[in-house]
Amino acid sequence: MTALEGIRVLDLTHAHAGPICTMFMGAMGAEVIKIEPTWGEMTRMFPPLIKGQSPYFLFIDRCKKGVTLDLKHPRGKELFMELVKKADVVMENFSAGTMDRLGLGWDVLRKLNPGIIYASISGFGHTGPWVDRRSFDPIAQATSGYMWIMKDAIDPEGPPLQAPDAIADTIPGFTCLIGILAALIHRGKTGRGQRVDVAQMDSMMAVMQSFSFWNLADTTFLRAGRAGRVGVSGLHETSDGYVMFSLPAGRITDWFKDLLGVEELTDDLVREWVSGRSTEEVVEILAETGVPVGPVQDLDEAQRCEQTVAREMFVKVNHPTLGEITEPGFPIKFSETMGDVTTPAPLLGQHTEEILTGVLGLTKEEVESLRKEGII
Ligand SMILES: CC(C)(COP(=O)(O)OP(=O)(O)OC[C@H]1O[C@@H](n2cnc3c(N)ncnc32)[C@H](O)[C@@H]1OP(=O)(O)O)[C@@H](O)C(=O)NCCC(=O)NCCS
Repeated sequence: MTALEGIRVLDLTHAHAGPICTMFMGAMGAEVIKIEPTWGEMTRMFPPLIKGQSPYFLFIDRCKKGVTLDLKHPRGKELFMELVKKADVVMENFSAGTMDRLGLGWDVLRKLNPGIIYASISGFGHTGPWVDRRSFDPIAQATSGYMWIMKDAIDPEGPPLQAPDAIADTIPGFTCLIGILAALIHRGKTGRGQRVDVAQMDSMMAVMQSFSFWNLADTTFLRAGRAGRVGVSGLHETSDGYVMFSLPAGRITDWFKDLLGVEELTDDLVREWVSGRSTEEVVEILAETGVPVGPVQDLDEAQRCEQTVAREMFVKVNHPTLGEITEPGFPIKFSETMGDVTTPAPLLGQHTEEILTGVLGLTKEEVESLRKEGII
């Protein structure tokens, strides 16, 4: 059994912020129907292509069925509207105003299905003076203050810095997921759907604790943490790599002192103790002592380490053209309902016929004529 069984999502998302949200819904059992233009959404072409497939799309569009549908064609629009009547959620992350221009905005869709939950992610939201601006992850990292805190942490005199993975897509994606799940609970009580409007910039600022430190104490989270931490806390070089440990004042630091048999933890003492041992040895001893510690792992070490394996955090996905590929697993371990991310990202239009015949009751001949007309 899965948590979102019976929930049907019409997924118009592209790029990253929207697709990661709907992938998690699919992983928890929702039927996610990814509707793309007949030429496919942009992430399908994100380089490097491996036998014509993008690692990005393969990662982020798992657990979905793939349908092509030209929403600018009157018949394509009509079919989408029929699907809306049989769906629970519509999700999109176009630039604001796109769905209205298509004639498929919230006011139209709610009349077709008063229970529909209509979720959007955009750069800056669907209100305010920046409503018309397009955005990608780096834009939200820049405008939210995130690039500034990166620079402040690493080199306060240097230029602003961008976090490498698309954090300002993933955080809005998960923010929107929370919004959709809450809207589903609300609909369960009232029968009414609602609009969920999530902005990348808002989502970032909402989870950046540095704003509170800045407004109250003129500092950032990292600076405050450094000031309050025991001096030797942090990154240390071992005989064969690096370890990270965190020492808050109190019992954890006392355990470390007892381990070394000293009254004070000085830089020299700790450096000498760590550098004479391998990463594995340092981690084992400190973990046993109760100190929060971890080896600094590269991408191979991270996915192969014993804990990752035990938590099944990398899974085999059987892709129709690439065969078996390895992708990150599902991180929520439910006791009752399973989560699964082993369904491969669909080929372009792979499930168009299945959905149009199965959900809308079209005949194979009707599907064929839609194909000939270039609508699917
Ligand atoms: C990502 C982004 C910058 C891309 O910009 P873009 O490629 O110009 O795409 P837009 O969203 O503006 O527009 C999509 C177009 O494709 C069309 N389209 C999308 N799906 C379609 C379909 N199935 N059939 C026909 N047309 C379709 C839309 O109608 C629109 O056309 P229009 O501009 O003529 O109205 C923009 O979508 C955006 O700012 N999104 C919000 C923030 C976001 O999520 N960014 C990505 C984070 S990873």
